[in-house]
Amino acid sequence: MIDLHSTALETAHPVTTSSPSSADPAARPKRVLVIHYSQSGQLDSVAAQMVAPLRADPSIEVHEETLRAQSPFPFPWPFITFFDAFPESAHMKPPPLAPPSLTGDEDFDLVILPYQVWFLAPSQPITAFLKHPLAARLLKGKPVVTVIACRNMWLLAHEKLKGMLDDVGARLIDNVVLTDPGPTLATFFTTPAWLIWGRKRGFWGMPDAGLSPVQIRRSGRFGRALRDALHGDLERGTQPLLAGLGAVEANARLLISEKAGTRSFFLWGKLIMAAGAPGAWQRKPLLLLYVVFLLALIVTVVPVSLTLQALLRPLFKGWLTKMTAQFERPSGSATDRSHLYDD
Ligand SMILES: Cc1cc2nc3c(=O)[nH]c(=O)nc-3n(C[C@H](O)[C@H](O)[C@H](O)COP(=O)(O)O)c2cc1C
Repeated sequence: MIDLHSTALETAHPVTTSSPSSADPAARPKRVLVIHYSQSGQLDSVAAQMVAPLRADPSIEVHEETLRAQSPFPFPWPFITFFDAFPESAHMKPPPLAPPSLTGDEDFDLVILPYQVWFLAPSQPITAFLKHPLAARLLKGKPVVTVIACRNMWLLAHEKLKGMLDDVGARLIDNVVLTDPGPTLATFFTTPAWLIWGRKRGFWGMPDAGLSPVQIRRSGRFGRALRDALHGDLERGTQPLLAGLGAVEANARLLISEKAGTRSFFLWGKLIMAAGAPGAWQRKPLLLLYVVFLLALIVTVVPVSLTLQALLRPLFKGWLTKMTAQFERPSGSATDRSHLYDD
């Protein structure tokens, strides 16, 4: 349970505060709230590319809010601490944030919510924010653009995030997804090497961990499209603002692995949480046992499920097409407007 008075978000830039009824929205600059949390800086650099065109526009005010956990998560992660984060991530029971600067009385026209995935769920600081009473005050009825930058398994995390947005009455208007370009199996090795040992460069012939610099730079197109949409008041409508920009490509073939992973995180997470709080020594033997189990899962279930799906693709085709379309909503994978906004 998060206590409003003991939790916080830190202000990176001064916020313009006004009561919701104080001004005619048409007569004042558009106000955009951007929520930040990033460990390596990767998600922040994606957000920075998107926000730059908005900041450069005198008719748009941007407020950037950086989330900080009361006890910060380390980066790079010590091995056991990394896995110790999975029970609370999977069960969406994060520790509190440091005290917020926003009061909830601020009135934003658009909210940009970048988030990373932790253990097939939204990262703990983002979950803590969305479960904070402040989120309901800030986001109720507001159009929200989510931006995911993760390894490549985000499908079920996004379902969870959508549930939290529904709980606070926010309107998800767009979703942008950037995933690491390396092959799935390689990223199972390169991502932990980055997150646990701080080694971002590829090894053994595998590509670098994380997004490519080109992916990050090209995310500026979303900011330019948002700027134009704000000029036309399109954020007040129900249509996505980022359609036709190749915002998201869903790989529904990973859904079965994600479901198996989520189930195992949930069950083992329950057991580990019963053994003690995060960091408790009683959790460590169970965590080590789980790591072995997880490795076995990764080298068996993921390739087996991908191979089986490849063999059975003709039978699965309809289902895959349906799932892909569903997970690519609302922004979609079409690229017909990209030429207008690429730099
Ligand atoms: C504890 C932890 C668990 C993660 N689990 C996943 C995951 O389930 N799926 C995924 O695609 N990426 C996962 N990632 C990668 C992150 O989504 C993200 O790409 C990476 O941490 C860089 O984000 P940053 O901007 O915070 O540095 C995980 C990262 C961390 C730290």
